[in-house]
Amino acid sequence: MWLEEHPILDFSSKRPKLVKFYFEGKEMWGYEGLPIAASLHANGIKVYRYSTRLNRPRGFFCAIGKCSSCFMVVDGVPNVRTCITPLREGMRIERQRGLGKIDLNLIQGEAGSDDNV
Ligand code: FES
Repeated sequence: MWLEEHPILDFSSKRPKLVKFYFEGKEMWGYEGLPIAASLHANGIKVYRYSTRLNRPRGFFCAIGKCSSCFMVVDGVPNVRTCITPLREGMRIERQRGLGKIDLNLIQGEAGSDDNV
């Protein structure tokens, strides 16, 4: 849902660009710059991770970046707070199960050297 009119607020500025992203391999669409969690919610996805001990589903809780309810794996990086992380074209988003695992290959790729492991 996108508000077009409001009695007080002005929505005359341009709507953000529509971009494609992937949730667990499935192609989805959302507006660039809006939070990932909100974009998933708009696509019908309301479970973002499963709890560590009891494997219970978790979705939006605070929606302001102060808890861990919306932790997801984004482009291979775990523990991303998707309620405050802006959506970008081509992002690959996965539900997180338990504690996130860090892919050491990603760290090496960013550092540009194998010496950092
Ligand atoms: S819902 Fe609390 S940090 Fe995202």
